[in-house]
Amino acid sequence: MTEAFVAGWPIAHSLSPKLHGFWLERSRIDGRYSPVAVTPEEFPAFLRGLPAGRFAGGNVTIPHKEAAFALCDETDAAARAIGAVNTLEVRGGRVLGSNTDAHGFSANLDALAPRWRNVAAALVIGAGGAARAVVHALQTAGIGRIVIVNRTFERAQRLAGHFGSRTEAHPMEQAGRLLAQCGLVVNTTSVGMGKDGGAPVSLENAAPGTIVNDLVYVPLQTLLLAEASARGLPAVDGLGMLLHQAAPGFEKWFGVRPDVDAETRNHVLAELARRQAAS
Ligand code: ATR
Repeated sequence: MTEAFVAGWPIAHSLSPKLHGFWLERSRIDGRYSPVAVTPEEFPAFLRGLPAGRFAGGNVTIPHKEAAFALCDETDAAARAIGAVNTLEVRGGRVLGSNTDAHGFSANLDALAPRWRNVAAALVIGAGGAARAVVHALQTAGIGRIVIVNRTFERAQRLAGHFGSRTEAHPMEQAGRLLAQCGLVVNTTSVGMGKDGGAPVSLENAAPGTIVNDLVYVPLQTLLLAEASARGLPAVDGLGMLLHQAAPGFEKWFGVRPDVDAETRNHVLAELARRQAAS
């Protein structure tokens, strides 16, 4: 049996075991994908011990993505650009690290709002780990102007400085004005998450057709997306990126590329609804 894992701290809330478990069952693969709770102190020994263990690879999530990047024997171009690894593969006694978050972001928009590749400018709200993956994806797609706003302006400046010439940083207060110039808006912050979430920006100044993508998926319909829909703007929720980032890992470990289709989405949606009812 082929085994893979998702390692994080804490790990109980990860949806990945449900997602990969569904794909394993649907593909009739003799495999297992298990959550593993690993503390930051334990993580280096966990990763270095993988070649001697039973796993073909796995995912790493918060707070281990940067540590994983530093510990892998080899990393892919996306991981190096982003400075973080979310997917591990054990091969020939070595640990190979990749980052599929940017792919997840792009593949989801390709499926739901393919016009995104033609926008002249994109507004990224937030400057944390998720923003790094999004900015890398936007750069890779050739978006000409990547506008970053963040509550802590210095962090936005650091992010823009890291990615270079086609990126620019602005204070959060400028978001409304800048929005009018952008055909795509992406919320990478946690604003809007949970029961009492607000919206990170008002969409008042958005031009017709502006694509609004929120990476938050609990709730699925955030205040930002509700406002987008009310204004007739294409609204893309955060679940799709989660589903798409998982597909390359599954293929590495289990040898089959899973389809990110309606059945997959509905399976994970049912799990989210079950958890909401239980909370
Ligand atoms: P992730 O890896 O998920 O991106 P992170 O690195 O902790 O997580 O980044 C969280 C992002 O959400 C940051 O851009 C953060 O803004 P700061 O850099 O100012 O901390 C943003 N964020 C979190 N809570 C926020 C809030 N209440 N208002 C505005 N921005 C918020």
